[in-house]
Amino acid sequence: MDEQAKKTALRKIPYGLYVVGVTSGSEVNAFTASWLSQCSFQPPLLMMAVKAGTSSHTMIRESKVFAVNLLGKDQKKLAEHFTRPVSRIGNKFGEVAFRTEVTGAPVLEEAIGNLECEVRHFLEGGDHSIVVAEVIAASVREDAELLDLEETGWHYGG
Ligand SMILES: Cc1cc2nc3c(=O)[nH]c(=O)nc-3n(C[C@H](O)[C@H](O)[C@H](O)COP(=O)(O)O)c2cc1C
Repeated sequence: MDEQAKKTALRKIPYGLYVVGVTSGSEVNAFTASWLSQCSFQPPLLMMAVKAGTSSHTMIRESKVFAVNLLGKDQKKLAEHFTRPVSRIGNKFGEVAFRTEVTGAPVLEEAIGNLECEVRHFLEGGDHSIVVAEVIAASVREDAELLDLEETGWHYGG
């Protein structure tokens, strides 16, 4: 395979950028994710790739819930903050306000909306696991445009 072509072609796939809230027992955490898409209307399912070996991966596997927080175009800093591993920097929330609703996973107050999900399938294999989850609650705070991965100048893919 032409490695450069593979990388260039894979990086053409468009993604949004989200902060995914996770929980397990009394713990909460959140991480930035881009590999996420709807994959069924009925039931409403999402698929997301979760990096193996991260704290968030362990927490989703244990609790089988998460909350997708939708970010607006002006929230790149928030996305950047949650790319840092909790194992290195400790509690990431600091001044980032959140609440818990249906699943117990953190819903960020400043997100433009959120989707709370229950895991239906957890497929381990590569360096990311594929999580297929049903949307069981949703809210929209502001009908604003979503932050795209491309406009951040970052890459996650290839
Ligand atoms: C632009 C970008 C996109 C990312 N997308 C994902 C993703 O889709 N899935 C994932 O598991 N990690 C993704 N990450 C990596 C996580 O944000 C990172 O591993 C984070 O530290 C995990 O948090 P934790 O260690 O507190 O669980 C992405 C990172 C960046 C910079």
